[in-house]
Amino acid sequence: MPYDLTEEQRDRYRATSIRSQQRKRALLEEGKTVRPPAHQLSGRLDPNDLMPQLEQNGLTCLSLFSGGGGLDLGFERAGFAHAASYELLDVCGETLNANRPDWDVRSGTDAGDVMKAAFSPFRGVDIVHGGPPCQPFSIAGKQAGADDPRNMWAEYVRCVLQVRPRAFIAENVVGLLDRKFESFVQQNIVDPLTDKYTIFKFKLAAHDFGVPQARRRVFFVGFRAKRDAARFEVPIPTHGDEGSVFGPLLPRNTARRSLGLPDIGYDEVSPTLRSGFTGPRNTTGVLNSKAALKIWHSLQVWPNGVQPSRGLAEAYPPENGHFRMSVADCALLQGFPEDWKFSGAVYQALGQIGNSVCPPVAYAVALQVARALTE
Ligand SMILES: C[S@@+](CC[C@H](N)C(=O)[O-])C[C@H]1O[C@@H](n2cnc3c(N)ncnc32)[C@H](O)[C@@H]1O
Repeated sequence: MPYDLTEEQRDRYRATSIRSQQRKRALLEEGKTVRPPAHQLSGRLDPNDLMPQLEQNGLTCLSLFSGGGGLDLGFERAGFAHAASYELLDVCGETLNANRPDWDVRSGTDAGDVMKAAFSPFRGVDIVHGGPPCQPFSIAGKQAGADDPRNMWAEYVRCVLQVRPRAFIAENVVGLLDRKFESFVQQNIVDPLTDKYTIFKFKLAAHDFGVPQARRRVFFVGFRAKRDAARFEVPIPTHGDEGSVFGPLLPRNTARRSLGLPDIGYDEVSPTLRSGFTGPRNTTGVLNSKAALKIWHSLQVWPNGVQPSRGLAEAYPPENGHFRMSVADCALLQGFPEDWKFSGAVYQALGQIGNSVCPPVAYAVALQVARALTE
């Protein structure tokens, strides 16, 4: 685990995990899967309501590092069309193809690797967007930055310089704005692009855009034309507390209410879902830190042993009776609508979810970019 546990805690979790596996086996064997659900769900959030589908705006995107499609989906719902989406992992390509059979998805170690791609044929595309892998800069990792072989910023910049889009959007973890990476950002992102693009750099919080999860990310948005840059405004929150400096906002969407769970007198946005594809053992949990454990506990939501379906999650509740999540529940907490399906085993689906830009946040950025380019 990326966080410290004492031996005693480790033993306790190990014992819980073994007991839980035994209970699962027993419950399934006893055929108790048909008993009435312990958690009646009603009035779940529909993330599509956070990002109403807009008519096509005539602008096209090239998507890099597309993952499970968070940025792609947000841009699509804001009216953009995709020229192509590049992604190294086959399982992500399967997700994109299954959800959008008409998209040009290039995935896998040959077709999908941006390091092998020639981008000049995409000249004329309006937008390049992408979230280069964030592990090199994530506080959950070693923060090796430029020295990490997963650092793909050079490829992103090469693509922008070859395609010369009217605008680019890049997303990453807020760790990238640490002082430690100041010169990295300057030398690898700003310097190569600054004489061709006016660059904006800002942080957004997913829960400010109706996503029921605490999640902050940094965005770089660049415009080729000064006139477009002058029209760009950083997205302002749509959801928040009363008395916000942004004026009247919609109340935040909290985790339990969004999942459709009954009122227990306590609710708040969920902790950040764990990023990354492969925990130490391809984990099926979304727990991100020790501090998060306390919040999940108060929410009475179990962040481990996520199940492929609601039926299976119901079939073996955790011993403490908390709500066990399915992949669809985690997707909802990330702002994906129910009809967006993730391919692969549970840990692969969670990897795609935890790595993604929350679609409603992508949508908010896409709206502002479209406004700057089309008004
Ligand atoms: C942070 S995730 C992107 C998530 C995506 N923006 C979304 O919103 O769902 C980064 C992705 O880059 C992919 N990737 C890493 N190296 C790559 C490469 N050389 N070519 C293409 N994709 C790559 C990873 O497999 C991962 O899915």
